[in-house]
Order: sequence, then structure tokens, then C-alpha cells
Amino acid sequence: MISLVGMPGSGKSTVGRHVARQLGLPFVDTDHLIEQRIGCSIRAYFELHGEPAFRDVEAQVIDEATATGESRVIATGGGAVLREANRNALRERTTVMYLRTTPEDLGRRLRHDTHRPLLQGGSDALQRLRQLFQERDPLYRRTAHYVIETQRPSVHTLVNMVLMQIELAGMGRSAGGETPQP
Ligand code: S3P
Repeated sequence: MISLVGMPGSGKSTVGRHVARQLGLPFVDTDHLIEQRIGCSIRAYFELHGEPAFRDVEAQVIDEATATGESRVIATGGGAVLREANRNALRERTTVMYLRTTPEDLGRRLRHDTHRPLLQGGSDALQRLRQLFQERDPLYRRTAHYVIETQRPSVHTLVNMVLMQIELAGMGRSAGGETPQP
């Protein structure tokens, strides 16, 4: 099982979906599972119930998504590493890849974002990203088995970097994917 962690906007879902397709594995996005469970957007849930309630649902979903014996690729939310139980579940049950990007690059990518509750607030968003990065970069590093520096590559390059890392880790086939056709 492979999981992707990293800051919001680092490409976890997009890269995860492509990697899963390449390996012939199912793809799951924990934010998507959370929205299915709460029956509304994460942003609305934050406004109604607050961040701690959201983190409780997130922890439950991460536990369930990683507990299955089925091999899959999992994209997590940016705050998934905040709780120790999540970090342990991810690190012990999956091979964790950290897509590492600078707050400045993220700021450019997320300029027009209206979905992420922690990043609303216009010109303060970059400041917020810097603060989140400072808090979380050590947690992502501690959770991850591999760090992939993303700088500003294309999705294609990123996908290949992750696939190469999987191959190097000797998981190309044992990840559960179909054997690539010649
Ligand atoms: C969050 C990131 C979001 C989502 C929620 C909280 C965070 O996921 O889980 O809004 O704390 O950074 P993405 O990383 O997919 O944006």
C-alpha cells in the first residue's frame, strides 16, 4: 500500500490518481471519503463543527483506509500528519511518500483556491502557508519513508519520480499492481 502526504496543493490527489492507474491499483482520496461520510464539503463542516471535529472524522477514515488488506494508493489531506495515531497508521501500514514543495510555490498554485478552509484570507494566505509548512514539514518527514522534492515539475515528471521511487524500493510489482504488459 502506498500513501502520499504533503502540504495542501502539493499534488497528492493528482499524482496519486496517476500512480494508481500506472500500477493498476485502486485509488482513494481520504478527503473524498470524509466528504462522503459527513455529507457536505469539508469547508462547510469546518464552519459548522470546527477543526477538531473534522480531525476526528479524518482519523477514523485514515484508520479504515489503511487497515484494509487490499493494496491501494492513498492520497491524504494536508493535516493528516498532525495526529500521532494517523502518523503511526500511515507509516506502519503503508509506504509513505512526502511530496515536498515550498510555501512560495504552493502560494502560487493556490492563489485562487476557495475550498480549503485553512487558506482563506487573501493576502495572508502565503503567511499562513509558511506557518503551516514550518509546523508540518518535520511531521511529514517523520512520517514519510521517502521524500520527493517537487519544486515545480510537471505532473508527468512527478508521477515518474514517485514510480521510480516505488521501483527502487522494490515494490513495483509487489505493490499489488498488474504485471506491466510487454
Ligand atoms: C487540510 C487540507 C485539506 C483538507 C482540509 C484540511 C489541512 O486537504 O483535508 O481542508 O489541514 O491542510 P488537501 O491537502 O488535499 O488540500
